[in-house]
Amino acid sequence: MTSVKRADPPSPDELDPVERVSRDELAAIQLERLRWTLRHAYENVPLYRRKFDEAGVHPDDCRELSDLAAFPFTTKQDLRDCYPFGMFAVPRERVARVHASSGTTGRPTVVGYTKGDLDVWADVMARSIRASGGRPGDIVHVAYGYGLFTGGLGAHYGAERLGCTVVPVSGGMTPRQVQLITDLRPDVIMVTPSYMLALLDEFEAQGIDPRASSLRVGVFGAEPWTERMREEIEERFDLHAVDIYGLSEVMGPGVACECVETKDGLHVWEDHFYPETVDPFTGRPADAGELVFTSLTKEAMPVIRYRTRDLTRLLPGTARPAFRRMEKVTGRTDDMIILRGVNLFPTQIEELVLGTPGLSPHFQLHLTRPHRLDVMTVMVEARPGFAGREEAGAALRRAVKERVGVSVEVEVVAPETLERSVGKLKRIVDRRGTSAGAGAGTP
Ligand code: DLL
Repeated sequence: MTSVKRADPPSPDELDPVERVSRDELAAIQLERLRWTLRHAYENVPLYRRKFDEAGVHPDDCRELSDLAAFPFTTKQDLRDCYPFGMFAVPRERVARVHASSGTTGRPTVVGYTKGDLDVWADVMARSIRASGGRPGDIVHVAYGYGLFTGGLGAHYGAERLGCTVVPVSGGMTPRQVQLITDLRPDVIMVTPSYMLALLDEFEAQGIDPRASSLRVGVFGAEPWTERMREEIEERFDLHAVDIYGLSEVMGPGVACECVETKDGLHVWEDHFYPETVDPFTGRPADAGELVFTSLTKEAMPVIRYRTRDLTRLLPGTARPAFRRMEKVTGRTDDMIILRGVNLFPTQIEELVLGTPGLSPHFQLHLTRPHRLDVMTVMVEARPGFAGREEAGAALRRAVKERVGVSVEVEVVAPETLERSVGKLKRIVDRRGTSAGAGAGTP
């Protein structure tokens, strides 16, 4: 049934000139910018001066890109310690905007942008939307949240920069989102993949065929999602589902993005963000591991070797040959579940749920500790009208045992029973520390 609507890759003359340079030319740009960034950070941010001095390194020691490995990492804790404005490398008056992370644990982290930084951000977002198949003149429906979260405003200014007509809907009010998509006929939607699923349900609840919508391209990010989820969304909406990545500490969305013609991982916009991968435990360079970023052009808040906690692998460029790709993020180091000694990520379960006939993409992972032993229950909704719930549950249990190597409980529940997310999805419900999740009770 997949008859995907057209979304053409940009022609070479539509690209930014830097998207066409050779790897060597890109490396030369990176080195010059890296040396500037290290000096800027050292001279203007006390935290960096102290950390460089303690590690016995000086910005002048960076003569080649590989010299960066001698510089110390920056962590989320460093940003928290400098709350709210201590990481800024310019006088506060030059900071044109701040954003902040949600801060579910501890203080939020505040990030700042000069006018020049906002300009670069709009450029890399415009580049990302174009790589995804968007074009000047397209109508872009932005359903990422607006506000302190970087998703909404980041997408908004990028789409404007590309020359699109922006519909700034933000998240929530799901029935109205469907009405706006039906009436305004956008070409592109920018939203978290989990909220896209909620929109899908709403289309169906209103009796509107999602495949008949005007949408050609979806630019999905802010949370991990799998190839299976891509197939699900592309099939049910008849559009191109493209992955976009970013984080507020480094900029916001638009640090890396897939190209619609290949959909083979996200090209990191390396002229502005220098990536490394390291072993999350030892911090040593590793082929696959925790992604680490150094900003190359940021004025207000340069970041040096920032530990993202996101796990991925760096690969050579394809659609943009000079720019390395990152594989779709498998998860965050802090989302890893250790279940009776076996490490697993929610994305592994997502692949298996979507590979089981009759099960919908709506699921949660409930962790409990009934008899001092951790138990994980996959609560998953059946697809509407599906009758074989028991069999589907048993099939999923077998698949997890075989593929992940651990026994889990599976509870297949009726459609529309699990909570839907409006922004970022929360897959894990950890009740191991509560009286409901520990002791004799079963979940
Ligand atoms: O989520 C920025 C963003 C907005 C990206 C909209 C893409 C689209 P934060 O709130 O700071 O910023 O959260 C950053 O979200 O470290 C990842 O763990 C996760 N994340 C973001 N994009 C992806 C993605 C925004 N495409 C954190 N795949 C990051 C997997 C992602 N995880």
